[in-house]
Amino acid sequence: MIRFDNVSVTYRGGVKALRGLDLTVEEGEFVVIVGLSGAGKSTLLRALNGLVPATEGSITVNETEVVGASAAKLREIRSKIGMIFQTFNLVHRTTVLNNVLMGRLSAVPAWRSTFGLWPEKDREKAMQSLERVGIVEKAYVRASDLSGGQQQRVGIARALAQDPLIMLADEPVAALDPITSRQVMTDLQRINEDLGITTLVNLHFLDLAREYGKRLIGLREGELVFDGDIADVTDETFQQIYGRSITEEDLLTTETRND
Ligand SMILES: Nc1ncnc2c1ncn2[C@@H]1O[C@H](COP(=O)(O)OP(=O)(O)OP(=O)(O)O)[C@@H](O)[C@H]1O
Ligand SMILES: [Mg+2]
Repeated sequence: MIRFDNVSVTYRGGVKALRGLDLTVEEGEFVVIVGLSGAGKSTLLRALNGLVPATEGSITVNETEVVGASAAKLREIRSKIGMIFQTFNLVHRTTVLNNVLMGRLSAVPAWRSTFGLWPEKDREKAMQSLERVGIVEKAYVRASDLSGGQQQRVGIARALAQDPLIMLADEPVAALDPITSRQVMTDLQRINEDLGITTLVNLHFLDLAREYGKRLIGLREGELVFDGDIADVTDETFQQIYGRSITEEDLLTTETRND
């Protein structure tokens, strides 16, 4: 479903954020990506949907080439990729339902959405998506009136409303408390299992990676330094990926953290 073939990304200014990355992800996989700040995790996800151009190599999604794709082709590719963000990226002044309907934008003619004339089947789809994340009763509440965890669920529902083949989540729980973090990760896991949506999640808490990942990818200075089954991951694996010992700061665990 996803294939990176010798992919490098060099940003203007010369930072090499990805170096010769080879990676294949099959349909339905749940992959967690870890690495120190600046290792290239966000760049990897952004390169996948063409938000950041790869400067070398090939990236295919369902056999469609992303690198050098036309604007129209990129729109088509992105319509099948749901994105979930650390800061939720909701429109605060409107309702939860309207936020989720934005996930249908690529499927609905612009004039209809501009006037709020969403076809009934799109409204149904949006409500179903809210049901999947357990907040359908919040459909008519303003997005700004929700808790962080609820806002992230709206973010997930918006991505789901796209009917995506792939979900990309860039540190989806970084802004949430430990309990809410686990609830949101559980939602992502359940959606992956129930709907078979291929899921890539960037995480910086290593205990969460271990609890929820099935396959772990480790990045270090833009290079893929680990790719394997989470069951084979040890503390040494994380130390190798990070190039240093693991500290309390790398864990979400509530016992040692008071925040
Ligand atoms: N738009 C940009 N222009 C120039 N350099 C960038 C840009 N975005 C990222 N970088 C650089 O590319 C490298 C990889 O960044 P990236 O955001 O992919 O890392 P990350 O693993 O997601 O880090 P974090 O855990 O802090 O989110 C870093 O050195 C970063 O400073
Ligand atoms: Mg990042």
